[in-house]
Amino acid sequence: MPNANYREDFPVYEKNPELIYLDSAASSLRARPIIDAMSQYASYAHANIHRGAYRLSFEATEKYEEVRKKVAKWIGAKESNEVIFTQGTTDSMNHLMHFFEDDDRFEKGKKIVLSIFEHHSNLVPWQQLAKKKGMILEYIYDFSEESLKQIDTTTQIVAISLMSNAVGLIPPIETIIQKAHAVGALVVGDGAQYITHREINVCQLDIDFFAFSGHKCFGPTGIGVLYGKRQWLEAMPPPRFGGDMIEYVTEQETTFAGLPNKLEAGTPNIDGVIGLGAAVDYMIYRQVQNNNTLDALREYAVDQLSELDFIRLVQPLKDSETILYGPIISFTVKDVHPHDVASILDQSNIAIRAGHHCAQPLMKYLELTGTCRISFSIYNTRDDVDALILALKSVRRWLGYES
Ligand code: ALA
Repeated sequence: MPNANYREDFPVYEKNPELIYLDSAASSLRARPIIDAMSQYASYAHANIHRGAYRLSFEATEKYEEVRKKVAKWIGAKESNEVIFTQGTTDSMNHLMHFFEDDDRFEKGKKIVLSIFEHHSNLVPWQQLAKKKGMILEYIYDFSEESLKQIDTTTQIVAISLMSNAVGLIPPIETIIQKAHAVGALVVGDGAQYITHREINVCQLDIDFFAFSGHKCFGPTGIGVLYGKRQWLEAMPPPRFGGDMIEYVTEQETTFAGLPNKLEAGTPNIDGVIGLGAAVDYMIYRQVQNNNTLDALREYAVDQLSELDFIRLVQPLKDSETILYGPIISFTVKDVHPHDVASILDQSNIAIRAGHHCAQPLMKYLELTGTCRISFSIYNTRDDVDALILALKSVRRWLGYES
């Protein structure tokens, strides 16, 4: 639960106690246990993995593989080999894109269905795939029964964010998966935002692929996860070739290792994996997911922002039984460009994100050039929201408007 004491977990506040950090959807702050675990590993326990015939290497391998097991358990995978370490969500989506590109089962004239709420990392790879294979790219603009009929027998891939980074929208993923599977389509889930806010059980959800990044869940940058059902990962050709992904190599031929090594060529980001493991421990310890207090903080912020007549909340679909929102809020300020709002708030040590949020098709659809976005994590409190509201009141005055 968000609590002022949780700020003590984050050393950045020691150096900058006045900081009001409202940009966790871009990257969460780094918690001390994760920094310590990474430093401990680098100082005393580092060696290359899967290679050395000595204790330090065995132990490093063990630590690395322990994280795979931990992540698999945390996301509800059937087995740890269904968890592949990547550089992040974007990298995971690119692995998948190359897989679908090379696989003849994904055919010209068949459909890839996305929602309009996708981040570019879950959009540009599919656009490229569609172009390369002559597949058809279609968007869903809401999640009504009628719109979901677009997932029909010509659909082969449905790629969907479980929580929109730009506006916080949570689509009815269970229904989408049922509809996709009923017509034989695969579902790729972008969990970059969802993972820190909601529990996930990939097995129960029956999702085919699920991706997320370490740096949005208190861990380091450059590390992420691609979960895939075993049958699909086995069918995937290696995305990269080199060391540690082979079974046997002759001058002219190579046979590849099994899962997961086949999909993790070269010396991996061991430090990143150690950090991710510590981040998972931290998130379990602090009960970050399904956090009612964080949801209440969002409601408080929505109420406070709604009181300001120069603010327009950007909440494209009505909050309902099927459409929910996570602790990410987008809004515009009358007459003021979002970048100017962010720069003025920065004068009060308030960090928000402004712009198109790597979701340009969504901005175009909403007829906006961009928005201001605030996003919460466990270190945020009502005081942060109050400070934001106060600062927002001064933004228009700062630029010479009456109120
Ligand atoms: N995907 C990140 C964001 O939404 C960078 O800000």
